[in-house]
Amino acid sequence: MPTPHIEAKNKNEIAKTVLMPGDPLRAKFIADTFLEDVKQFNGVRNVLGYTGTYKGRRISVMASGMGMPSIGIYSYELYKFYDVENIIRIGSCGGYTPDVKLYDVILAKDAWSESSYAKVQGGYESDTIEGTPELNQRLVKYANELGIPMHIERIHSSDVFYRQNFEEYKEIYNKYGCVAVEMEAFSLFHNAKVLGKKAACLLTVSDNLETKEETTSEERQNAFTNMMKIALEMAE
Ligand code: HPA
Repeated sequence: MPTPHIEAKNKNEIAKTVLMPGDPLRAKFIADTFLEDVKQFNGVRNVLGYTGTYKGRRISVMASGMGMPSIGIYSYELYKFYDVENIIRIGSCGGYTPDVKLYDVILAKDAWSESSYAKVQGGYESDTIEGTPELNQRLVKYANELGIPMHIERIHSSDVFYRQNFEEYKEIYNKYGCVAVEMEAFSLFHNAKVLGKKAACLLTVSDNLETKEETTSEERQNAFTNMMKIALEMAE
């Protein structure tokens, strides 16, 4: 304490529940827009982390960076060295089917991946890992209370954003049933599993590979508040 990547000196600077967007500026946006009594606890590599209160309940928000190696490092340190119990990834994803429309919210029931992360980290051989059912149940309840519709589906966690063969997503959809692609959930879910912690992943559709629709970065900021509001209800 501190760790190689997080400068908080004490465990109590970070709440038991941490929301993790990929982008540091989105972490700042959430802290600025939704939290009160905010204190910044991390700035190493500009991976911004904040703790504050939401409706009087404590919660933290910290960026994960992009990709499984990056969220793998930050989530491991939060769980293992700062006694964080719950991490909710809140990110964007690319839809693999027209069933998931731009700005729709998806709760990842589980993540399928061809990544070696779980095998290398802990000898885990399967290519699919679940989010924590208990957190998912809570998120479903909060989404219902807020009147925000949500898909509950399998997603693809990919190591590659730019594939040489763009069409490969069709097979991943048909064979494994992944409705959308992102790049972090599989390693987050694995870390939670091996450390006896809890993890969930909420996504907002930012583009669709099948219909070729996409959002601008400004549009995203606003539309993503639905997902943020669901996740913020995890504050305790
Ligand atoms: N691929 C991977 N990750 C993503 C995408 C995508 O198309 N869109 C948003 N996150």
